[in-house]
Amino acid sequence: MRILLVLSHPRQDSLTHAVAEAFCTSARAHGHEVEWADLYREGFDPLLHEPDEPDRSVIGKRYSDAVQAEMARVDRNEAIVMVFPVWWWSVPAMLKGWIDRVWNRDWAYGARTLPHRHGLMIGVASSTEASFAKRRYIDAMRIQLETGTMAYCGIANSRLELLYESTRNPAASADLVRRAHELGKHFPSSA
Ligand SMILES: Cc1cc2nc3c(=O)[nH]c(=O)nc-3n(C[C@H](O)[C@H](O)[C@H](O)COP(=O)(O)O)c2cc1C
Repeated sequence: MRILLVLSHPRQDSLTHAVAEAFCTSARAHGHEVEWADLYREGFDPLLHEPDEPDRSVIGKRYSDAVQAEMARVDRNEAIVMVFPVWWWSVPAMLKGWIDRVWNRDWAYGARTLPHRHGLMIGVASSTEASFAKRRYIDAMRIQLETGTMAYCGIANSRLELLYESTRNPAASADLVRRAHELGKHFPSSA
């Protein structure tokens, strides 16, 4: 399967980066092709300006060249995997902006939805699984990202996977990298 791997982290030596690398290496070893979209490194502009506003009065609006190019790389892949650090119980502004601009009307939702069958979001979080459950942050993230974004845009098999306790100690971080390796090995099903 051709996978677009969308990475949102400002630092190359971050754990999030290592998680993305582990997923990629493992997915490739198991026969998938992986194309990277490293949003910070590429200098993606996450701000939605007027040319990328959805227009309800026309069907099939042509968006800005930058967005059309993003749409082309999403379209040439069969699955989307997004890797990000959890910031304020959500995705970083960079990834939010990529979705705001690229997953646009009549292309990702509306007259046309995404043709991809598989979507995975891997979030790296410093808190424990218990704290995510206690305040129902995990429910909020699932509703927003699985239901309100990926499934809303037509991706039938869409899943959020959180890797918890990212900052506890080096051994815990290494475990999360191993977990990402498993996710790549078993993609598109759950590991
Ligand atoms: C702006 C900001 C907001 C954060 N918000 C959360 C949060 O809501 N929940 C959480 O568990 N960790 C939060 N963190 C911690 C990050 O998830 C943590 O720094 C990251 O998982 C570490 O991995 P990295 O080295 O790849 O950045 C936040 C960090 C930053 C910088």
